[in-house]
Amino acid sequence: MISDMRYFIDVYGCQMNVHDAEIIEGILRAEGFSPVDDPGDAQVILLVSCAVREHAETRVLGRAAQLGGMFKESPVMVLCGCVAQEHGAELLEKHRELDIVVGPDCYRELPRLITERSRVGLTDFRNEDYEGIQAVRKEFPRAYVTVMRGCDNFCSYCIVPFVRGRERSRPRDSIVAEVRRLSYLGYGEVTLLGQNVNSYRFGKIDFPALLRDVALASGERTWIRFVTSHPKDLVRETVEVMAEHRNVCKQLHLPVQSGSDGILQLMNRGYTVGEYLEKIRMLREAMPGIVLSTDVIAGFPGESEEDFGRTVELLEEVRFDYAFLFKYSERSGTAASGLEGALPEEVRLERLNRLQEIQRRITVEKSGMLVGRELEVLVTGPARRPGQQVCRTPGNRTVILKGTDYAPGTFLNVRIEKADGWTHFGSLPESCEK
Ligand code: 5AD
Ligand code: SF4
Repeated sequence: MISDMRYFIDVYGCQMNVHDAEIIEGILRAEGFSPVDDPGDAQVILLVSCAVREHAETRVLGRAAQLGGMFKESPVMVLCGCVAQEHGAELLEKHRELDIVVGPDCYRELPRLITERSRVGLTDFRNEDYEGIQAVRKEFPRAYVTVMRGCDNFCSYCIVPFVRGRERSRPRDSIVAEVRRLSYLGYGEVTLLGQNVNSYRFGKIDFPALLRDVALASGERTWIRFVTSHPKDLVRETVEVMAEHRNVCKQLHLPVQSGSDGILQLMNRGYTVGEYLEKIRMLREAMPGIVLSTDVIAGFPGESEEDFGRTVELLEEVRFDYAFLFKYSERSGTAASGLEGALPEEVRLERLNRLQEIQRRITVEKSGMLVGRELEVLVTGPARRPGQQVCRTPGNRTVILKGTDYAPGTFLNVRIEKADGWTHFGSLPESCEK
């Protein structure tokens, strides 16, 4: 079945969704569909949705309504991703602009559903790993490679286990072959993706073994990173592999969620603050200067001012380079949505603001310490401002270079001249000047 339909795709949410969109494009293009940049030119519009917080869900449904009302000849409107999985076919009744609703395990069906123009919701769990699909990667020289999907943790606030299904890992050989190919094609950075990469297991291969094989297969000129790591599953062997291999980035995102043991228990996180801090100590001992980031939820049900104070202390103690801070959002069907002690919206917001203020200061201080230092960077492409290029450091920091014209994928040494926390401005040390 070859189609000549034009599609437009828009993505919301995490890196897994970004890469799933690349997989969806791979599936569509193999059947003859072609991409357009303007939704007005499209015969099919696909929105890849995120359900992790209510705000994300409202945004994508608002976008669907807006796009649905915009055109005279209405395109086929497809909702993919986690909101699609969460609500399924019932969305078709409430949101008349939607034609097709498809969950993350059913993307292979998209070409058929679109060409048949069926009004359907498809949300089966199929343990799909999209083996054999050629993703359409658009972020050269950076690439994502999924190593596992799903989550078995059931943190009490989180909808992911309900919409992404049970954990399943891809075969090691297939992951290694994909990374080797990307490295050969000149990709300077590969990010291994999974809802909980540390619980990767395929036969006898666990995550540290996979990471070692990937690091060896990709050669010196491809950096390797991975997200997301659950603190309870981060083992010493993983830290050793990170430290041993030059091309594994000395950077880790390790969501802590709260600084209070009581709240962590209510969240069903499976570790105490002390155990978390021990992992941080192990990481810093093995890799001094490692760039660390985290996620925190403010205003979880039952969080007292004292519990919250412990989270503040934790941020001050660890001094993460970056933190992604959220206010608790109730997700129906999760264990936390039935908990007593829900906090008023103003309290959640006020606590979130306090955390943001603290972390902003720390982030600025930590990035300021880089000024005057020389760092290796990967040139990723043009910046928004003409005449500027964007680069990444191994710590995943953004560096802007002015007046350079390097090919994306080039590695350089730059000196950091200025830093504001999130953006760093670099210059070429004399020896590298073109
Ligand atoms: N409310 C607020 N934040 C949430 N997260 C996940 N679920 C919720 C929720 N219900 C946050 C967690 C997670 C990140 C991806 O999103 O911090 O690590
Ligand atoms: Fe959600 Fe917890 Fe699984 Fe992360 S580990 S996806 S927060 S349930």
